[in-house]
Amino acid sequence: MEIGTGKSYAKIILLGEHAVVYREPAIALPVKSVGLSARVTPQPDGRQTVTSSFFTGNLNAGQLTNFAGIAMLIRRLLIFFNAKNQGFHLTITSALPSERGMGSSAATAVAVVRAFYDAFQTSLSHDTLLNWAAVSEKALHGNPSGLDAATASAERPQWFVRGKAPRSIMMPRNGVLLIADTGVAGQTKIAVGAVAERLKQDPKMYRPLIKDIGNTVRQAALALAQDDIITLGQLFNRDQADLSALGVSSPDLDRLINVAIDNGAYGAKLTGSGMGGCMIALAASDQAVAITTALKAANSAKVWEYHFESK
Ligand code: PMV
Repeated sequence: MEIGTGKSYAKIILLGEHAVVYREPAIALPVKSVGLSARVTPQPDGRQTVTSSFFTGNLNAGQLTNFAGIAMLIRRLLIFFNAKNQGFHLTITSALPSERGMGSSAATAVAVVRAFYDAFQTSLSHDTLLNWAAVSEKALHGNPSGLDAATASAERPQWFVRGKAPRSIMMPRNGVLLIADTGVAGQTKIAVGAVAERLKQDPKMYRPLIKDIGNTVRQAALALAQDDIITLGQLFNRDQADLSALGVSSPDLDRLINVAIDNGAYGAKLTGSGMGGCMIALAASDQAVAITTALKAANSAKVWEYHFESK
């Protein structure tokens, strides 16, 4: 084993979360200014240790924490490389807030897999990378669509349908996407489970919402191709109405969404699993400062600006 490194990015789902679990399309983009890196170094004394913002200690101790999925992934990687007892120290450095719908767990998995493949000097295909990332994502919330890992490992925005190869998709050439953190942890497992339960209990009521999200995403692809951010903003609002009816919004998300709209955004919605986490708003570039100021005044824990024309 040599020293190995791996990188990944935060992901933002523009449209299609939750419905993507049921094979409707989704559109997501990697946010390269918010990155995560993993570095693994061999440790001659055989100890297997980790330093990160969410877990620090022996790999074995990680089994009982929110690092459990990644700990399992690392053990399987070591078995794969025939190095079960190899000592190592893994350092994860991340600018992503965890549990905020920015794909922190998938980004961690992607960077860790890349670092171990690099350390064992083995080439890694994109398909294999996504299969490995699914190991910890499954442990974390049971039924992942694969969208998070696909986007955290991508260089370009993605059109994603579960079970199919992700495709790159054009983004607008103008306007700004504001990403605001409610400061409240999102609850991916609970939210995905709640939607599954509602679909089971009352399919007549909830199935059409999933279908409508899929249709919204298809229309958004057209708006993107036409560089029409006003229509795209309206589609954000329609998607948010469906997500809210599915029961995955929250009072904090609704408050920030309303603040963005009141301050001139074309549209705003939750991003990721919801029930906390982040919201996104789409606006003309010259509205960015006013909306960011208003979101901060409304107690958003953090606001990021993603200017499309500079990408
Ligand atoms: O909360 P996040 O960032 O893990 O996003 C989850 C996205 C869902 O569509 C709700 C679930 C999935 O696996 O796609």
